[in-house]
Amino acid sequence: MSFSGGVDAYDRFMGRYSGPLASSFADLVAIDAGHRVLDVGCGSGALTRELGRRVGFASLSAIDPSPTMVAGTRMRFPGLDIREASAEALPFADHTFDAVFAQLVVHFMADPVAGLREMARVTRLGGAVAACVWDQAGGTGPLAAFWTAALELDATAADESNLPGTREGHLGDLARDAGLEVVLEKALTIVVEHPTFEDWWEPYTFGVGPAGAYLAGLDPQQQGALRERCRAMFPNEPFSLTAQAWAVSALVSSG
Ligand SMILES: C[S@@+](CC[C@H](N)C(=O)[O-])C[C@H]1O[C@@H](n2cnc3c(N)ncnc32)[C@H](O)[C@@H]1O
Repeated sequence: MSFSGGVDAYDRFMGRYSGPLASSFADLVAIDAGHRVLDVGCGSGALTRELGRRVGFASLSAIDPSPTMVAGTRMRFPGLDIREASAEALPFADHTFDAVFAQLVVHFMADPVAGLREMARVTRLGGAVAACVWDQAGGTGPLAAFWTAALELDATAADESNLPGTREGHLGDLARDAGLEVVLEKALTIVVEHPTFEDWWEPYTFGVGPAGAYLAGLDPQQQGALRERCRAMFPNEPFSLTAQAWAVSALVSSG
């Protein structure tokens, strides 16, 4: 899946929603200055920034498999320990961290249970693993309007509702399958203001993630039809978009 367009395109497309999510997600685990923390799938650094603010950037590490994300985020946080790696093969010794977070990443893992198991492996006994994913199956994620319009025009459009962790309860199931002791499952809600429809739409044309790739694969006429269908969903400007993510926090009690 394409997250290779660079941190600025990613921020315009998804960082505008993942930034506001980061604070309530980080609140799920009690972390404090000096705690060793890992941000898995850091992308452009929305959660990285929030975690660094809480524990200090010297205590924080981050990984992402996308070289362009790693390069861009490294420039944003000079001196940060940020590495090119996947959740399924973390380049850290057992029990290195007090807490390990993955914001909007589990659904993109090639093997979500293996990724969560790796996150547990690098966490100390008694430490925490936390993950969250947009409620794409329930239709309350931030991309819901786009995919609703796309499906109205093309019933075969591969929306993101079948991805792991995107339906209620599934993230908890995946965490338990990975051997974690789930202590909290909850919905997190964000509200983002869009001054205009164009502000909402333009980042879909940047080719980021499954939605951007889907749009890029349409011919110009199909793109125009989808844009107009989306336009009809937001009749008044400005408008606010409310979105919900499923989140879990779990204890590492063995390993
Ligand atoms: C939707 S973005 C989330 C980025 C950031 N955490 C945020 O909240 O904005 C998903 C990120 O997961 C990364 N990713 C994809 N597969 C991954 C994997 N197997 N392990 C770790 N990260 C992965 C992508 O490169 C991308 O940066």
